[in-house]
Order: sequence, then C-alpha cells, then structure tokens
Amino acid sequence: MKKFLTAAMAVMTALSLGACASSAAKSGGTESAKDASSESAGEAKAEGSYAGKTLIMATNAEFPPYEYHEGKDIVGIDVEIAKAVAEQMGAKFEVSDMAFDAIISAVDSGKADFGAAGMTVTEDRKKNVDFSDTYATSVQSVIVPENSDIKSIDDLKGKKIGVQQGTTGDIYATKDYGKDAIQPFPKGVDAVLALGAGKVDAVIIDGNTAKAFVADQKGLKLLDSAYAEEEYAICVKKGNTELRDGINAALKELKASGKLDEIVAKYIKAD
Ligand code: ARG
Repeated sequence: MKKFLTAAMAVMTALSLGACASSAAKSGGTESAKDASSESAGEAKAEGSYAGKTLIMATNAEFPPYEYHEGKDIVGIDVEIAKAVAEQMGAKFEVSDMAFDAIISAVDSGKADFGAAGMTVTEDRKKNVDFSDTYATSVQSVIVPENSDIKSIDDLKGKKIGVQQGTTGDIYATKDYGKDAIQPFPKGVDAVLALGAGKVDAVIIDGNTAKAFVADQKGLKLLDSAYAEEEYAICVKKGNTELRDGINAALKELKASGKLDEIVAKYIKAD
C-alpha cells in the first residue's frame, strides 16, 4: 500500500487550496496562474470578462492521475488543464476539493465556477449543468484480485462490487446489477482497499485511475475488457454560455498548441 493509498487516507476531504503554486514549480518553472495572468495577458488573449477574476475549480482530489494530493498540493491532469485554461482566459485560478457528488451542486450554486474532475458527460448531468467540449476519452475498468474467479464482465453477476459514490461506475453498475450488489465508498481508494481486504469482489472505476491504484497495491489486476466507454468534460452552471465558450476557446487553443497532450503525457506514460 503505497503512494495514493496512504496519501489519500491521510488527507481529509473538503479542504480548499490556493493556486497549487508548488505543483507549477514542480512542473519545471511554469508560472503560477496569478503571475501569468498579469504578464502574459496579451499573449494569452485575455479578452472577455474573466480577465483578472478568480475562477474556482471544484474537484474531488481522490482520482489519480487527474486530481490527487501530493503533500499539501492538489496536482494532476485536470488541475493543470484547468489552470492553463484560466491562464488563457487571463483569470486567476483556485482549486476547491470536495466530495465527487457535491461538485455539480457547488457549480450550480456558484460556490465554484466550474467542475473539473474526470467528469463523464451524461444525459442526466446535462439536466443540471452545461458541459464544455470533451478533453479526454475514458473507460470504466474492472479491478479484481489476481486470483479472482471473475475472468470477464459476464462473471460479475452475483458478486459484490465496490464503486466510488455518485460516479458513473456507481450509476451503471447499480443499473446493471441492482443496488444490493453495489457497495459505494466516498473515495475510490477506499473501494480498492476494501477489495484488497476481501470485503468486495471487484471494483469498477475509470481506467487510468484503476491503473494507478493497481500499480500501487499488490495482488490486484485489471480485466482485459472495459465495462463502459465515456468522455470527460468541464462543467459550468447551466446557462453560463460565456464561461463555457471561454473554456472551449481555451481548450481549442491548448489542443492546437500541443499543451494538452503535453500535460497528459506528463502524468500518463504510454504502455
Ligand atoms: N468519470 C466518472 C464520473 O464522471 C468518475 C469521476 C470521478 N472523479 C473524481 N475526481 N473522483 O462519474
């Protein structure tokens, strides 16, 4: 039980952090979002009404490699993408950590400006928030003990399945196998620890996060086939087209410049 497992257990949820300046320092001298907003405003086309304002990102930092705690910092792909988006918009940037199933209401109530949390675009969520263009594709993967009799998705029937509460893994598995078969945990890592302890038979969670957890805990493996395919996007308050359009323009720029790929490559090494 190493990096993510111990770190995740040690850190309480619901703390709010500043601009993650030290993660920026770590990534090789990138300026903090704050500095960059004043210095590179022209270059970054800091037009629109967000220049100089602070954009607060709601997330659940229990989800390596997209958002997780590294010491006191919250780092990961989403954090860096969102920070680059804010920079592009000339805005300052803050991260607010909370339970995954609190993100949509935080965005809806205006406690946060947007949610970036490896959040899958679903029709149901679209009723409550608007989504940016997608910035990543993902799968739901199944983690089992190495010696498990679960060899494929078909063997999941009748098994106890651990999930992170409120995630698509939770939603899809509850629909497919019924509420009684599902054990929801506040954090994905807790589901994985329960799997290691034999309290559940399998865990369904996003693919890259599953890989990070499996690399971190001995005796677990991934099933070869994925359980579902999906796409990640940033959510904003319903009707906030100005922010959504600003985010989309910034994402487009980050895709075109190769910056987005660069961020992903920093956290996900090709197999
Ligand atoms: N992609 C899944 C969903 O949208 C899981 C996301 C979990 N993210 C997190 N930061 N804990 O439901």
